[in-house]
Amino acid sequence: MTVPSLVIMASGRGSNAQAILDRIADGYIPATCAAVITDNPDAYVIERARTAGVPVSVVPFRSFPNREAYEDRLIETICGYDPDLVVLAGYMRILGSGIVRMFAGRMINIHPSLLPAFSGLHAQEQAIRYGVKVAGCTVHFVTEEMDAGPVIIQRTVPVLDGDTGETLAGRILEEEHTALPEAVRLFCEHRLEITGRLVRVLSTEENCPSPQGTGA
Ligand code: GRF
Repeated sequence: MTVPSLVIMASGRGSNAQAILDRIADGYIPATCAAVITDNPDAYVIERARTAGVPVSVVPFRSFPNREAYEDRLIETICGYDPDLVVLAGYMRILGSGIVRMFAGRMINIHPSLLPAFSGLHAQEQAIRYGVKVAGCTVHFVTEEMDAGPVIIQRTVPVLDGDTGETLAGRILEEEHTALPEAVRLFCEHRLEITGRLVRVLSTEENCPSPQGTGA
């Protein structure tokens, strides 16, 4: 069986990208990473990818005359790597419907809130301001509506007295580093079944029926 290949897209620090690369390296995720793509020429994720020996493509938004031209190049770049899965790991741009439709069911995103609460930017500050007692992260399939696709995994953390956006973000980030590799692994093991908004996680037995005719 061929090993699934990933493209990771990230815009900055890249700690989620690192978590995926580490879990590929230790064998937890049965995949290869074909490339890291970033829109930010100064992103630290570039160094992380190079250290891991993963090719990097920089597609800087500002060097294109408009969003359409940018997305055309992005599609061309992603398709050049022919990935089975595109992982948005801290990719800070909203993607247009063309690209989202092209990768429907094979593009996932991590968001630092328990969706559907606190979508969009500064989710952790939104949670603090609202006064929730539990926060967390969500990994979901990407659809045309921002932060609204079928949910794959959520992990929770408590919101503590005196938390700031920053302290809460740190606590959530630790959970992101578990949730995102887990979702990628499930996808690579063909264990995510999407029906409408619902994602069912198949057990390994459901996904690996016994060989025909053995009766096993
Ligand atoms: C993460 O909190 C992610 O959920 C959000 O942006 C942050 C990226 O962090 N979308 P990193 O670049 O993966 O360290």
